[in-house]
Amino acid sequence: MRPTYVEIDLAAIAANVGLACRLAGPGTQVMAVVKGDAYGHGAVPVAKAALAAGATWLGVAIPEEAVPLREAGIACGMLVLGPVAPDQADLVAAHDLDQCVSDQGQAEALDRAARARGRVLGLHLKVDTGMGRVGLRPHEIRGVAEKIRSLPSVRLAGLMTHFAEAEAEDPRFAGEQLARFAEAARDLAAAGIPAPLRHAANSAALLFLPAARLDLVRPGIMLYGYHPRGPRGGPEPPLRPALRLRTAISQIRDVAQGESVSYGRTFVAPQDLRVATLPVGYADGCGRLLSNRGQVLIRGQRVPIVGRVCMDMTMVDVSRLPDVRVGDEAVLIGRQGAGEITADEVAELQGTISYEVLCRIGPRVPRVYRPASRVPRVYRPASPPDPARAS
Ligand SMILES: Cc1ncc(COP(=O)(O)O)c(C=O)c1O
Repeated sequence: MRPTYVEIDLAAIAANVGLACRLAGPGTQVMAVVKGDAYGHGAVPVAKAALAAGATWLGVAIPEEAVPLREAGIACGMLVLGPVAPDQADLVAAHDLDQCVSDQGQAEALDRAARARGRVLGLHLKVDTGMGRVGLRPHEIRGVAEKIRSLPSVRLAGLMTHFAEAEAEDPRFAGEQLARFAEAARDLAAAGIPAPLRHAANSAALLFLPAARLDLVRPGIMLYGYHPRGPRGGPEPPLRPALRLRTAISQIRDVAQGESVSYGRTFVAPQDLRVATLPVGYADGCGRLLSNRGQVLIRGQRVPIVGRVCMDMTMVDVSRLPDVRVGDEAVLIGRQGAGEITADEVAELQGTISYEVLCRIGPRVPRVYRPASRVPRVYRPASPPDPARAS
């Protein structure tokens, strides 16, 4: 195996899921959001760990993401959170998925696909209460719910919404969204079509808006150990980051004062230096925006990235580590000794959020799981499903 790999601490995932279950409370189910290959952590092992720790549903973004989960034998309720195109309806039916629905045409396409498979699919009507992305306006809900009731192969399984800024310090907009959602749910119940599952809360709402816990919650980022408020999140609740991105030094070179390092010659040695080359680059998820800015941990010490991050290699200045050797571990995200580099820190340097840093770790980086007892030791994200097999 290449020296660049990700270690996933499944005990940390389990602890974070346990925390989400405790916050949700006994009457509220937890859907572990495992889209984006479980935010880069590997969907199948994370899903298994999350279900063992108390989650009862899984959330994916596209039906294709559910295929490896079903193929791994996971039989729980699985909701496709993103929109469904007509061509994807059969995949939803073939794998017995629930689908989030934002218009009548989607409901009709799913009904046809489900009938062809001899199934009845659960649909979750999405209300746009202020996210401005997908969903029905509150006044449109009743008409589509009545249509669903008239279709033989779909049933109304849920009513859902999504918050635009539940992580904001000012809770007012999230509160307004929740009030609009509650009104839509009341209208539907008054029309004699109560939604069996009402759900709204992402990690931030689960943490900061207890009234949003409803019948089910949909945490994502907190299950991976990161706070939805990013580095402003503080130590509470105690989340455990689950991912560690590490590599090992492949070469150490003396660079004389005035010599340059890497593409574009953006780094010129101000004095004689020792520079180590790491076999990790932006194709692995070490973003190019970290050029001359990021740091890595070697022997528990922070050392700076020098020069441009390349697609497959990155250079670091190890001059202040006299004992450093080829083969020494370098950590890009995670702990080493007393040091730690978080995905939040890496995100800030690149003007983004932990979510993107985690998701961007490429499929060519093997994932290694600890404890490894119940899951394959190394998991590689599955290739996209073969459409011929699905039909
Ligand atoms: C519809 C929906 N629900 C829940 C989540 C989980 O959000 P978070 O990772 O912020 O908890 C997402 C992620 O973006 C989502 O799109």
